[in-house]
Amino acid sequence: MRNKNFFKQKTALTAAKTRIYKEYIEGYLPKLLMSKGICLIADLFCGPGTNGKENGSPLILLERLNYILSSPQLQKKQNKKVYVLFNDQDKENIENLKKEVSNFQYDKNVIEIFIKNEKYENLLPNLIKKPEKKEIPKFFFLYPFTYSNVKMKHLKALMSLSNSEVLLFIPIFHTYRFSNVKEYDKTHRTRIFIEEFTIKGMFNYENVHTFMASMREKLLNEINIPYIRDVLLDGGGSKNSLFLLTNHQKGMLLMNKIAFRNTDNGSSVIVKHKDQNFLFGSDEGSSFYDDFREKLKEFIRDREVSNYDIVDFTIKNCCLPKHAKQELKKLYDLKKIKVFDENDIELSNSQKWNIADELKKETIFKWQK
Ligand SMILES: C[S@@+](CC[C@H](N)C(=O)[O-])C[C@H]1O[C@@H](n2cnc3c(N)ncnc32)[C@H](O)[C@@H]1O
Repeated sequence: MRNKNFFKQKTALTAAKTRIYKEYIEGYLPKLLMSKGICLIADLFCGPGTNGKENGSPLILLERLNYILSSPQLQKKQNKKVYVLFNDQDKENIENLKKEVSNFQYDKNVIEIFIKNEKYENLLPNLIKKPEKKEIPKFFFLYPFTYSNVKMKHLKALMSLSNSEVLLFIPIFHTYRFSNVKEYDKTHRTRIFIEEFTIKGMFNYENVHTFMASMREKLLNEINIPYIRDVLLDGGGSKNSLFLLTNHQKGMLLMNKIAFRNTDNGSSVIVKHKDQNFLFGSDEGSSFYDDFREKLKEFIRDREVSNYDIVDFTIKNCCLPKHAKQELKKLYDLKKIKVFDENDIELSNSQKWNIADELKKETIFKWQK
């Protein structure tokens, strides 16, 4: 099934999604290629390669790869390899993509492209069992049309591979508004999705943010990984959700930064354009940062905690080390905490607290009774 209109015109919402994809690739790939020299990027719902005159995700990736690989440091790096896998179930899309790729200039010694025309459900078992690919860092980009396409078991399988990350966009429309519709029987698509992807299941969600929080909690519970970053892409009538699933603190930190760069509040990108009505209004504010402030206080209250623990806690809770520092300074000024170095010498200068993206030395934060 092909949604022809989707690819004719790139909406503001699609542009927001592809911007996040692009920024993540730009931040993630250079460091990965410098350290490992090899990776696999799989765009499993890749589409035809173009949206109207704009590039779709496959061409965005190839362009970014050319840009990244042209950096002087990576030019010097020997034996680099990037495997790229594009897949779409639609034959017409794949034929178009093959044409686009054949017109695209890239270094075939470094980038090796595979193009498949399969249902991604059928492709997954093959992707998962190849033992020779075990150690290669893998990045899966999943961008289906509807929420019924991707199942929890698929995400579990992909994240059970070593060195694997998933970036998933799921359109959620207004599913949360229908989550307490009693008439939905067990076979209803919306009900199946809500029950599979939220911790609370069919429930009267206060707003889309509580729905997203319930999805995030469910993913954390079901998939055994430490870091999940969600962002709401709010186009009024068409709400989309983004989830980064990763085992790496650095990956989550990068997505936190991208989310703060692209949003006012760190949690939702609000996209408005003239053709879209905000059916239910977009005023459901998120108390995301206030929640973090409270959780951080709870985390350090009546205890001693290291800067490493605080930074990890902050990143897991979708914020940045500088946010933690800001809150810690307030607590310090209120005489709620004291900070010490590894020799138990008190540090009054917050520059020395070592709450940053890159940590060097351990410091200890002690709650004052
Ligand atoms: C939202 S579009 C992808 C857009 C693309 N990533 C881009 O940025 O240009 C979703 C694509 O998924 C494909 N698709 C839908 N169900 C699929 C499935 N079960 N397996 C593989 N592809 C599927 C559709 O043909 C469509 O091209």
